[in-house]
Amino acid sequence: MRPDVDQFFELSSDLLCVVGDDGCFKMLNPAWERTLGYRPDEMLQLPVLSFFHPDDVESGRRAARAIQQGLPFPQLVNRVRHRDGSYRWLSWNARFTGSHFYASARNASERMALEEALAERDREMRAFYDLDHVQMGIVEFVGGEGRYVSCNQAAAVSLRETTESIKGKTLSDLGMRVDFRDMIHARLDEARVAGKPVQFEHLLPRSRGRWLQTTFCYVGQSKPGCDRIAYLSLDVTELKQKEEKVREQQLRILAASRTSALGEMAAGIAHEINNPLTIIQGRAQAIARLVERGMAEPQALLEAVRDINATVMRVSKIMESMRGLVREGRQDAFREEGVKDIVQGTLAVCAERLKNRRVTLRVAEVPDTLRIECRPVQISQALLNLITNAYAAVEAVAERWIEVGVEEREDEVVIAVIDSGAGLSPSLRERIFEPFFTTKEPGHGTGLGLSLSRSMIEGHGGTLILDDSAAATRFVITLPKVQK
Ligand SMILES: Nc1ncnc2c1ncn2[C@@H]1O[C@H](COP(=O)(O)OP(=O)(O)O)[C@@H](O)[C@H]1O
Ligand SMILES: [Mg+2]
Repeated sequence: MRPDVDQFFELSSDLLCVVGDDGCFKMLNPAWERTLGYRPDEMLQLPVLSFFHPDDVESGRRAARAIQQGLPFPQLVNRVRHRDGSYRWLSWNARFTGSHFYASARNASERMALEEALAERDREMRAFYDLDHVQMGIVEFVGGEGRYVSCNQAAAVSLRETTESIKGKTLSDLGMRVDFRDMIHARLDEARVAGKPVQFEHLLPRSRGRWLQTTFCYVGQSKPGCDRIAYLSLDVTELKQKEEKVREQQLRILAASRTSALGEMAAGIAHEINNPLTIIQGRAQAIARLVERGMAEPQALLEAVRDINATVMRVSKIMESMRGLVREGRQDAFREEGVKDIVQGTLAVCAERLKNRRVTLRVAEVPDTLRIECRPVQISQALLNLITNAYAAVEAVAERWIEVGVEEREDEVVIAVIDSGAGLSPSLRERIFEPFFTTKEPGHGTGLGLSLSRSMIEGHGGTLILDDSAAATRFVITLPKVQK
């Protein structure tokens, strides 16, 4: 018995049909109803073309004519109406026997949706790729050498190539210097090994000082041993120039603030030196009196002269510390310095002022052996700023003391300045480190003390904070003992 091949007609998920030479459906398999929602009797005897999207009727007619003339069936993918009025994409195949068309159609909606999504993504990617201020491309990294696979117009232009001519070229083909090549190859390797984006800034050779910020991103292997890395470069030359300007401005502010710190100090200097001068004057007058009265015992004279000498020494120590503090310390080299010397040098220029205002100064015992690698002038300036602030804070209260604490940790040194002032409200705490923030009268504060101190300390890899947990006002400098 011959097997019943009609079973396939029923089973097929492809849409199978027989169409008469009048162009109307004569026979339809169940897949039609499943795909387009029409019952067979709603389609039979109706022209096939009447179900096509209006824009697809002409291509359908051409395809039918072609096979009627014995030509091969052309590729035909078109939109056919569903019962609900929407359209399905069908991909057709057909033959003509002289009296009938035998056609099969496959639902291509999913494929078309996918292709549409791909095309959409391609358009999106194109939009990026066509940006003329972003250079991007793909490099193949084989045996330690990078080779262009493709790049966008912006990248090609910056390398004086075209998107075609650059394909397959290495950095040496492009005439890049050895040191540049080595640097790029090292970064490519880094991106390959790290498997995550690697970003860096570099000068583009032969570009008259253009700076690029480049990101390398590992994509995968195109074949074993052949790594692909996507790159993206932004021209950051203007950004860099702006940064440079900001830096210059900061330098100017720094200079201005040093001048104003000098002003503050000039006020203090009188106090620091008046007292010793008074002592010297007193001893000198005593000597004069003794001589006038003919009572100049050598022992008494010697004592007075020794006092004078010691006081002169003190003044010169104050002057020396002051000279150091006024200096610009930003360019200084890091060097090892005793913490005790820094603290005492700083106190030398302000201790007298504190004593005059009856501010008790308590200073921690600092071991001679405690040393840190730093720019001593900057640490001293920061410490003096904190003490000057504390001094201003305690002036307003009856109980006046300032404490300077030093604590050694494993690889850090903590210097704290604590005062008996009224402290800071939470809203003030948030703002005091902002440059130019001050609560002081014009002429009394620049609002730069804390922000500059913080930036100097951070330049040492340290921190300067206001300790929220302390009962009294407590500013804390933490510094690494050794610079990394
Ligand atoms: N020890 C302190 N006690 C209370 N307030 C302080 C203290 N230190 C700083 N401040 C507050 O922080 C502000 C900013 O300090 P600073 O940056 O040194 O600038 P300036 O001292 O010129 O005002 C001060 O105006 C003051 O309001
Ligand atoms: Mg200040």
